[in-house]
This record gives sequence, structure tokens and C-alpha cells, in this order.
Amino acid sequence: MTKNPSRVQPADALVQSTRRRRFRVATLAAVFSLFALYVAWHEAHGPGARHNDELPITQARADDASQPAVAVATPAVVAGSDLVKRGEYLARAGDCVACHTADKARPFAGGLPINTPFGTIVTPNITPDPDTGIGQWSDADFLRAMHEGIGKSGERLYPAFPYAEYTKVTDQDVLAIRAYLNTLTPIHYAPPSNSLKFPFNQRWLMVFWNLFNFDEGRFVPDPKQSAEWNRGAYLVQGLAHCEECHTPRNFTQGLKTSSRFSGAVQAGWHAYNITPDKNSGVGNWSDDQLVAYLSTGAAPGRANAAGPMAEVVADSTQYLTHEDVGSIVTYLRSVPPINGGESRPRDQWGKPAVDDVTALRGTTINAVNGAQLFIANCATCHNWTGQGVGASAPGAYPSLIHNSAVGASDANNLAMVILHGVSRTTKQADVLMPAFGTQLTDDQVAAITNYVTKQFGNPQSTVTVDQVAKLRTQQ
Ligand code: HEC
Ligand code: HEC
Ligand code: HEC
Repeated sequence: MTKNPSRVQPADALVQSTRRRRFRVATLAAVFSLFALYVAWHEAHGPGARHNDELPITQARADDASQPAVAVATPAVVAGSDLVKRGEYLARAGDCVACHTADKARPFAGGLPINTPFGTIVTPNITPDPDTGIGQWSDADFLRAMHEGIGKSGERLYPAFPYAEYTKVTDQDVLAIRAYLNTLTPIHYAPPSNSLKFPFNQRWLMVFWNLFNFDEGRFVPDPKQSAEWNRGAYLVQGLAHCEECHTPRNFTQGLKTSSRFSGAVQAGWHAYNITPDKNSGVGNWSDDQLVAYLSTGAAPGRANAAGPMAEVVADSTQYLTHEDVGSIVTYLRSVPPINGGESRPRDQWGKPAVDDVTALRGTTINAVNGAQLFIANCATCHNWTGQGVGASAPGAYPSLIHNSAVGASDANNLAMVILHGVSRTTKQADVLMPAFGTQLTDDQVAAITNYVTKQFGNPQSTVTVDQVAKLRTQQ
């Protein structure tokens, strides 16, 4: 037997190296505990919400942008302008414009502040400008950023950039996006710097975040599933990053993988449970309704995208081919259903009001009477019975009965809709509901919200005046 010479060590050297190792482990543990404490503290005390996808596509919305019918998971080898077109399509699937645009006149030039529990992160310029953008990045730099969350100088990027999802995207697709970004007009603009509190301004700490929350690696197709399922999984887990909003977070702000798609709060809005659970999720929706919602922002008679989801539809999912949206639906149908305790689907509550107008006749007007406020502010469009106008035609004033925001187990989104309105531009329609935030006080908004849930939706969902005041500051 030959001895391994490297194992032979004098006894005290061994003790010393063990001590040193223990010391190192202890230091790391201490640093991490400090980090964890900060995270926990900020989660409890901070604003608690990430800012999100904000601005509609401007320049990128060329109407002739014929979408390539190439299946996403099986990219054909393409060159020249085909590659650029494909890159544009994929950039939309990844919704890059939403986060990397603060001013519509400067698409992809960054500057959008993203609020996290640890401070504000401002998105960088990703136009090909050599000084302020990524004009000097090599393809390898770009791949490393998308796959590993590492910037050009080797610095760790913050996970507000969804690299935890983009890591699943094939090299070929990442490079197509890069080819498209290269064709953008370079914009010379340096966004303001981040304002993160110590220790979160220490980028290297992301090593710990990655340790717990990040699995580097490309999407691996499941041979037991159909090509359609695999394409859907590739899109949902990768570019479309649905989980960034729909999956709750753990105390380090990583995704809680045991509750995938079961719903989370996003900038004051509830990004609902979209698992196939019949009561808590979207298990009672038909495939066509899910496709309609993702392609137009409305599943008539059930749900309307009004908040962050309206931006996702407007900037991203409306541009996906029918085939790709269908695949997303196929995949979503297969994720484990999670019941959040609801006994009835949120879009199955309520019945038309029958007595309110007569009951209100002759009563004195009271500034915070929900029924009166509803008649005065909402009934012209949604009808005093709550049944809406125009039934299910595109751009109709939707019925509030069987509407997912009105029947949800919390009234957040309803209050948000009243405060901030709806503004959603798609190829299909320009949808507009006025924001009432400037006209109505917090107690008036609370009164309407509570009237609407009681009369047309889930009567257990109520908001307080304080909650409305908090929601008002979001967005
Ligand atoms: C949810 C918001 C969000 C989306 C969507 C998003 N990004 Fe970003 N991205 C960020 C943030 C925030 C940073 C900065 C992270 C940091 O400072 O550590 C960033 C950083 C980057 C960087 C590094 C730039 C640099 O100067 O270091 C690149 C490259 C990038 N994003 C490309 C993309 C591409 C391509 C897409 C679409 C496929 C995309 N991003 C979508 C938020 C987003
Ligand atoms: C930027 C955050 C965000 C992203 C990314 C996102 N969603 Fe949403 N989603 C929301 C929010 C918030 C709502 C609540 C409705 C609203 O915004 O008006 C919602 C609502 C929905 C609904 C309707 C549920 C109901 O009962 O009304 C479906 C279905 C849905 N999302 C699917 C998806 C899919 C599929 C993806 C990925 C392709 C996705 N979402 C990506 C935030 C997001
Ligand atoms: C000028 C017409 C108009 C008025 C007034 C109006 N709405 Fe709307 N409302 C709309 C339109 C348009 C939509 C979006 C339809 C779509 O998404 O296709 C909408 C959507 C909604 C939704 C569904 C949002 C979702 O997330 O599912 C609710 C709830 C709602 N309105 C409640 C109200 C309440 C309460 C008032 C009074 C404070 C009101 N609306 C006033 C036109 C109006």
C-alpha cells in the first residue's frame, strides 16, 4: 500500500489547520447570520414589495412584427434578420423592456427604480451604447449575466434581475436576444445608482443568496412529457418568469419552491394562485379562457388583468404565438394544485343587486355610504346591478359578479383597481377605467370596496381605511 503523502501531517499542524477551518466556517456562519437577520428585519419592517413591470412597449411595438412560428424549445438554426426577429420575440417573452425602461422615450436604457425590502435597485442600460450600455460586452459576458447573474467585471448581480429563471434559457436563445439588443438605437444614458442599505450594498453577499436560492443550469426537457408541455415549461420556468410574481418568497426573498405558483403580493397587488386547484387556483378555467386572458388581458365573465398582470400581457404575453400561449397553459395545468383554504373559486361569488336603487331613494346623501358612492362613481359603466355593460365583447365594461378581483379572499386588488384604474393597451383594445385615487378619500375607497365585495362578491373580504392608505402609496 502506498501512502498518500499529502495526508501525512504532523499532529499540531493538523490541529492548527482544523482550527483555521473551524474559524473560517464560524466567520462565514456569523456573516450569514447577520445577513439573515437583516433580511428578516427588513422583511418585517421594509416596504415589503418589489416594484414591477411598469411601462408599455413603445419602440418595440412594430405592428408588422410578424412573430416567428418557430417552436421555442426546438430552435432552428437561423441567421441574419431571422435571428434578430427571433431575438425580439424572445425578448418580449422575457419582458426585458418592462424593467429596463423608465422613460418610454428611452426604451431599454434602464433607470427604473425597483423597490426591494433592502432598498432600491435601479435597472441598468442594456442598449448597445458603449459607455453607458452593454455595447462593449462580449457574447460570453452576456451569457454569463443571463445564466449566472454575474456582471461584466465579475460582480454579482442582484436577483431583482430574474437570472434565477433566465439561467434555464438555451445559449442559442440568449444569443438571439443579444443579437436583437445589438440592433437597438444606442442610448447614452447612465441611470442613477442603487440605494441599498448595508450590508445589501455588498454584492458579494449574493454568494449566500445563490447558495440557497439559485440553481445554475439550462432547462432539461422531460422525455416523458409532450413537446407542448416541454415548451410551456421552458417558457414559464425560464423567460416568462411567472414565478417571480406568483410564487411566495422565503425569508431571504428567494422563491418558496414548496408553494410554487400559489400566489404572492406584488407591489400591493395579489398575484393570485394560478395552480390547477379548483377553489384557490385556476382549475375551473377552461383552456380557452386562460389563453384569452394571457393574449388579451381579459377572460370575459371571470377575470381582467388590471395591475402588474396588465403590463405583463401588454408588454409580453400578447405577442406570444397561439401555440406558445397554449403550451404555457398545458404546463400550468400540470403543476401541483395548492389549496389556500378557499371554499369557492374567486370567480364564482356574487349575484346582481336588486334593491339598492329603490332603497336609496329619499335617503340623505352621506359622504361615506358605499352604495351611494357606487351609484355615483361606478354604476354608469358597471351598472347599478353590478352586471356591467356590453357583456363579453372586447373592451366591455365587465360584470363585477363572478369577477376574480371582487370574489378573491382579500380585497386588495379591488381597492387597487379603484385607486389606480385600469390602463391596458393591446393589439385587441385600449382598455381604460379611470383612477379614482385623486377624487376619493381613503374612507370613501374603503366604503366602495366593502360595498362591492358584500354586494357582488366575497362578503368576507373587507379593507380598512389604513389598508387603503397603504395601497394608495404603491405603484
Ligand atoms: C423584473 C425586472 C427585470 C427584467 C424582467 C429583466 N431585467 Fe435585466 N436587470 C434587472 C435589474 C434590477 C438589473 C440590475 C441588477 C444589479 O444591479 O445587480 C438587471 C441587469 C441586467 C443586465 C446586467 C447589466 C449590467 O450593466 O450589469 C443585463 C445584461 C440584463 N439585465 C439583461 C436583461 C434581459 C436581456 C432581459 C430580458 C430577457 C432582462 N434583463 C429582463 C431587472 C430586470
Ligand atoms: C410582474 C408580476 C407578474 C408576472 C411576471 C406574472 N404575473 Fe400573472 N398576475 C400578476 C398579478 C398581480 C395578477 C393579479 C391581476 C392583476 O394584475 O390585475 C396576476 C394574474 C394572473 C392570472 C389571473 C388570475 C385570476 O384569477 O384573476 C393568471 C392566469 C396569470 N396571472 C398567469 C400568469 C402567467 C402564466 C405568467 C407567466 C407567463 C404570469 N402570470 C406572470 C402578476 C404577474
Ligand atoms: C368609465 C367607465 C368605468 C367606470 C366609471 C368604472 N369602471 Fe371599473 N372598469 C372599467 C373598465 C373598462 C374595466 C376593464 C375591463 C377590461 O379589463 O377589459 C374595469 C374593470 C373593473 C374591475 C375588474 C378589475 C379586475 O382586476 O378584474 C373592477 C372590480 C371594477 N372595474 C370596479 C369599479 C368600481 C368599484 C368603480 C367605481 C369606483 C368603477 N369600476 C368605475 C370601466 C369603468
